[in-house]
Amino acid sequence: MTTAEQDILLQHREDLADMLLDWYDTHARTLPWRISPEHRKGGLVPDPYEVWLSEIMLQQTTVATVIPYFTKFIEKWPTVKDLAQADLDDVLVEWAGLGYYARARNLHKCAQVIAYDLDGIFPTTEGDLRKLPGIGPYTAAAIAAIAFDEAATVVDGNVERVMARLFDVHTPLPDARPVLREFAEKLTPTHRPGDYAQAVMDLGATVCTPRALKCNGRCPWEAFCLAARTDSAEELPKKTRKAEKPTRRGFAFWGEFDGKLWLRRRPENGLLGGMMEVPTSDWIPSNSWDNFPPPRVPIIANWRELPGLVRHTFTHFHLELKVIRLELEEMINLQEGEWVPLDQLDKYALPTVMKKIIDHVREPVLDL
Ligand code: ADE
Repeated sequence: MTTAEQDILLQHREDLADMLLDWYDTHARTLPWRISPEHRKGGLVPDPYEVWLSEIMLQQTTVATVIPYFTKFIEKWPTVKDLAQADLDDVLVEWAGLGYYARARNLHKCAQVIAYDLDGIFPTTEGDLRKLPGIGPYTAAAIAAIAFDEAATVVDGNVERVMARLFDVHTPLPDARPVLREFAEKLTPTHRPGDYAQAVMDLGATVCTPRALKCNGRCPWEAFCLAARTDSAEELPKKTRKAEKPTRRGFAFWGEFDGKLWLRRRPENGLLGGMMEVPTSDWIPSNSWDNFPPPRVPIIANWRELPGLVRHTFTHFHLELKVIRLELEEMINLQEGEWVPLDQLDKYALPTVMKKIIDHVREPVLDL
């Protein structure tokens, strides 16, 4: 059910789209994967490979973080065929730090499907894009709109925030999601839908920001915004309070000898699947280190616990690790994993939590 005010706004949907597109013409962010509105009007079209790569990288990560990764990938693998032929380990090494490594594996898989099954040509519709590995509803809509100018509705967190404010939706997220999508769909124009999709995202990222909003004189929708009228924009979107993340605890085993470090590959399935790790124990849910079971050391050796903790937060839990340093007297044959020269660690795809362990051994953080 829409309110009378929301209905009036919807009657002005074409004006709203035009106002936002005019704003985008002068305020679009310059991004390495983007064709500027001026060039786009001049007939230049984006490379779907670049759009796809950027959208996969941008999930859960900020534009500022993504730019150097994107640039490096394009330098190394300028086309989808180059990426398809790349070694998966090389892709994971370049991805390291962006997190969510399953995305990098799917990226590689998807590149191979496009390169080998589709002769390097991206599908052009939302429906066909959806069938590819790692391409969910958001990415399919974003590629269809941005690369192929299909009037697909792109809904990310920025778009939800903008819609919640424009239409003054007070239902908390996630319940509000279908309503916000419906509003977003109703506003999506058939004229310049690709620029429009990017314009809503830019508006959310630069003007209609979570805090410190810049409505006054800067938002093209200010005069229409229902939340601005009641001064409630900053409170929106409301969110149902999330349950606290649980904490898991465990030990990392630092085995170093003669300039080499013991690393092993994590099992393919599961968190950080297939990534290299400083070997760790199981990560056990626990409320505190008091009475936490002692480590079962995987190599027979004397060991010493280093002071301090390594902390990392994953999507669904916090992790705390204590680091146990194995006092090795000689190079031993490993049953699992390999000895990696310490000065060659950058050749391996080490997830952020593992880099934290390495930094910690070099400089322990004493915040127990
Ligand atoms: N965030 C995610 N995708 C984006 C895009 N194409 N433009 C701007 N911000 C984005």
